[in-house]
Amino acid sequence: MAWKGIGIFDSGVGGLTVLKEIMKTLPQEDTIYFGDSARFPYGTKSPDTIVRYSHEIAAFLSHRDIKLLVVACNTASAMALESLKQQYDMPIVGVIEPGARRAVTVTRTGRVGVIGTEGTIRSGAYTKAIKRMNPEVEVLTRACPLFVPLAEEGWVDNDVARLTANRYLQGLKEEGVDTLVLGCTHYPLLKGIISEVMGEGVTLVDSAEETARTVAEILRGRALLRPSAERGNHHYFVTDVPAGFIRIGNRLFGGKLGDVFQVSLDDPELAGRGAVHEES
Ligand code: DGL
Repeated sequence: MAWKGIGIFDSGVGGLTVLKEIMKTLPQEDTIYFGDSARFPYGTKSPDTIVRYSHEIAAFLSHRDIKLLVVACNTASAMALESLKQQYDMPIVGVIEPGARRAVTVTRTGRVGVIGTEGTIRSGAYTKAIKRMNPEVEVLTRACPLFVPLAEEGWVDNDVARLTANRYLQGLKEEGVDTLVLGCTHYPLLKGIISEVMGEGVTLVDSAEETARTVAEILRGRALLRPSAERGNHHYFVTDVPAGFIRIGNRLFGGKLGDVFQVSLDDPELAGRGAVHEES
């Protein structure tokens, strides 16, 4: 029997933090990861552009016969999730609802901070999702655009990262949030520094775990899970030279990432054939 895989996408390496949790929760599943590195970053772009990019990637992945799509990018989840859900019959999971759910569950004081890209924060998607779940929770937000290039560069625990985190997070710390949502899939790569700056009393919420749980529930509910004795294969597609992606991926996964292909999205039907193949 041919089992279908799970498609996952982000603007770059950030979604790998979600993929890692999905692999941990569902090791039997095949996955296809798409990092749109040529058009990265998404966080500074307009909703129309992000909707267009997201549809192009969804078309590419759906041609590879996936059974579920994970939008492992907060910016794309905030701007394009509804439009994708209207177009496809397959289940589509974003990262904002799972992160918001977790924040509402873990906060004790009802003061929740949310950090993300400019696009995600401007969309108000987290505030809306959290308020829908519990209108009493106070949500304080802050865009932290420089965290994304720091994560892509692998500068996650040096002085530059520490100074940047201090500058961005001081205000939220002074406001006394007890929970901080890492509302960008790149940010968990800087978790160490963020937690150092926020201090022990603040719980960091990384939506990756909750997203993986949601994916497992949906697949189980639809009887689409592969038998648990199986072991999944993992493929990666990027739209620009894969060297940086491979370096960060290897660091995150503590070893070899697997096969990474460079593709063009110009024609989703053909993209991938004749792909440049790089061993990681
Ligand atoms: N990782 C993406 C997110 O979760 C955005 C990074 C970017 O492309 O700006 O929002």
